[in-house]
Amino acid sequence: LTGLGGAVALLPFDRAISALMPTVAATPFAAPLRILPVARPVRQNATTDFYEVAVAETTAEIFPGVQTKVFTYNGNFPAATIVARRGREVSVTHTNSLADPTVAHLHGAHVAASSDGYPMDVVNPGGRREYRYPNTQLGGSFWYHAHAHHTEAEQVYRGLAGCYLLKDPQEAALGLPDGEYDVSLMVRDAHFDDAGQLVYVNGDFNARTTLLVNGRPQPYFQVAARKYRLRFVNCSNERAFRLKLADGSAMTLIGSDGGLLPAPVTAPSFDLWPGERVEVVVDFSRYAVGTQVVLGNDLGEVDSTRSVMRFDVVRTATDTSLVPAALRPLPDLGTPTATRDIQLKLDLSTGAFQFDGKVFDSTRVDQHIKLGTTEIWRITNADTAPAIPHNLHLHLVQFQVLDRAGAPVGGHETGLKDTVTVPPGATVRIKVRFDGYEGRYVYHCHMLDHSATGMMGQMEITR
Ligand code: C2O
Ligand code: CU
Repeated sequence: LTGLGGAVALLPFDRAISALMPTVAATPFAAPLRILPVARPVRQNATTDFYEVAVAETTAEIFPGVQTKVFTYNGNFPAATIVARRGREVSVTHTNSLADPTVAHLHGAHVAASSDGYPMDVVNPGGRREYRYPNTQLGGSFWYHAHAHHTEAEQVYRGLAGCYLLKDPQEAALGLPDGEYDVSLMVRDAHFDDAGQLVYVNGDFNARTTLLVNGRPQPYFQVAARKYRLRFVNCSNERAFRLKLADGSAMTLIGSDGGLLPAPVTAPSFDLWPGERVEVVVDFSRYAVGTQVVLGNDLGEVDSTRSVMRFDVVRTATDTSLVPAALRPLPDLGTPTATRDIQLKLDLSTGAFQFDGKVFDSTRVDQHIKLGTTEIWRITNADTAPAIPHNLHLHLVQFQVLDRAGAPVGGHETGLKDTVTVPPGATVRIKVRFDGYEGRYVYHCHMLDHSATGMMGQMEITR
């Protein structure tokens, strides 16, 4: 593991060097989409589902006939999806068989600090840890991933990530596509060497030119000519996507980080930054059987990063699903009583990414917050030269994005969010309510190569 050593060695030098290294060239659309397995509880009682997870190094067949070394939760790359029901508790016990400490964070969850995956609260090799998720919040598509400070970027990159769907009974009544027509898609990039092994170098963005969906390079997905609910998660360390069907036809955005939008939004494309989730409904009945539609990435810089996957319409099917005109109202987050300013910037002299001129220090509290209050956070990305995008993730909460550079936001940003994109030079304002739990939680840039070098802060919520 080179996460610690690589923590401060950064752009532009690493990027230039690693860009010269060869990568495995995958043939696009050669492998079928892997449908992520659903995790099975080892036991259940009246209130709780219990899961046991082994965290270990193993191998995965990412390229046909090639065994790639990866880190996995229970052997799956990426991990199995945990399906939870609102109001029913989930307990997940991890056993760490890696050679390094690790800890897991459930991204998007409203949980006690002791189960949040605090970056210093690690499970040592050989250790066990139970996380308890109360699932009392509104339903949504969350995800879980490694989070030990300095090594989170490398451990997530090597495979420690999975989906966590919190199903809400209120949502089931809406009639959205369900069952086999509700599909999670974890998209990311990666850098492979000639032998098909993952190469991790912090800041190696330019060399990560292989796109993976659910752990396979640019797969094809055989679909029926009907509506599908597609839940996208961007689990890349640094790559942003602008996803778009090649024929430019509209998609219906229905969800964001924190679950359903107030109302569906029709758009020809949507942006998906690291850590974000966007749920869309695509109606493949507009295509004749036999049609192949590529899901493109308008932010791709080379051929291999301009196509994410391909949908092959192979059959007809009945479809009684629908997308109602109203989905779920935004909850009232209350009236703000405080405003804070947060600045994100790279320290060019050390190569460390920082908040407000400081690298993360677990012994320092950066934001003192009163339990039960609502605040406005003004987040500024001061990295204009060189221009570096960032995005801010807050643990514990789901917030509302008020505006970016003074302009109201649209699309999936009209829903509840836990991660928000902050382009170079821009200021984003969010409204956030802190309730339910006291304690210390982190906020950080979800470009994990940045947070690994220190772009993380700590908030303490007290009575
Ligand atoms: Cu998805 Cu603190 O992270
Ligand atoms: Cu960043």
